[in-house]
Amino acid sequence: MASLTETYVLKNGVEIPKVGFGTWQIPSGYATYQAVTAALAAGYRHIDTALVYGNEGSVGQAIRNSGIPRDQIFVTTKLPAETKTYQGTLDDFRNSLQNLDLDYVDLYLVHAPWPWAEAGRRYDQENRQVWQAMESIYQSGRARAIGVSNFAVPDLENILADATVKPMVDQIQYYLGFTEPKITRFAQDHDLLVEAYSPLATGGILNNPDVQAFADKYGVSVPQLALRFVLQNGVLPLPKAVNPAHIQANTQLDFEISVADMQALNAFPDAAGYFMHNPTQG
Ligand SMILES: NC(=O)c1ccc[n+]([C@@H]2O[C@H](COP(=O)([O-])OP(=O)(O)OC[C@H]3O[C@@H](n4cnc5c(N)ncnc54)[C@H](OP(=O)(O)O)[C@@H]3O)[C@@H](O)[C@H]2O)c1
Repeated sequence: MASLTETYVLKNGVEIPKVGFGTWQIPSGYATYQAVTAALAAGYRHIDTALVYGNEGSVGQAIRNSGIPRDQIFVTTKLPAETKTYQGTLDDFRNSLQNLDLDYVDLYLVHAPWPWAEAGRRYDQENRQVWQAMESIYQSGRARAIGVSNFAVPDLENILADATVKPMVDQIQYYLGFTEPKITRFAQDHDLLVEAYSPLATGGILNNPDVQAFADKYGVSVPQLALRFVLQNGVLPLPKAVNPAHIQANTQLDFEISVADMQALNAFPDAAGYFMHNPTQG
């Protein structure tokens, strides 16, 4: 359980619980409300959503009804990848706060450097405008931290070149065998925390026999091994689950993978062969 409440510290001093609960593809309404309620009851204190997930309302409701003080839950949401203007950023942020029915979020992220339908295309000028709006949201106090997602090294360099407030987080696809090493190294060198989305490869890692062999060695499940692997690399995993047994199991991460096994796991081939890789990563 300790892994759930221990924190990383962002470059502005804000503490962020080391494991977040992902909510992508959980339908709005009962399913999201139940999943987030179960996650909070199991000990998660960090919830990851996005305007495009369409479930911010249910996330906010579960948080408010949990009885847990707001300042003890870390809430992240994201600006749609398609929004690439200053005013559009302010408008979408306001919509997210209204959906969540919260006064502030803990972390606001630009969901991607390009609209999904144009993945890989450069939007440098637009992203600089978006970032100015992100800075103004941060300075208003309605987001305690700001960052990006799916940004490769050139996308990060573009923002860092003239940012007044530098991004604090890059949330990227990151799982055993697919750790986007160039982005990760650049981000860590520039004091950005790397968050691992799809840390179980959206389920693609679950039946991998080679990962299973390592899990057996530690007497844990494949998801537990995969999440612990992310943590021991200094990265923040965001597992998603709706099954209450999965939600619970993913809180049991207080074991230690040996240095030798971490080396072996870091040399693993892509454990899932997942198809949605960022075309510009590297
Ligand atoms: N920024 C971005 O562009 C981006 C993109 C993708 C994801 N994300 C974030 O990252 C989060 C996680 O990624 P993801 O949604 O792709 O999924 P994931 O966490 O990689 O995998 C979720 C899948 O694994 C299963 N699972 C979870 N724990 C399990 C366990 N202990 N035993 C067996 N199966 C288990 C889940 O099943 P059940 O649901 O049936 O329990 C679900 O099918 C998202 O929800 C979202 O918050 C962000």
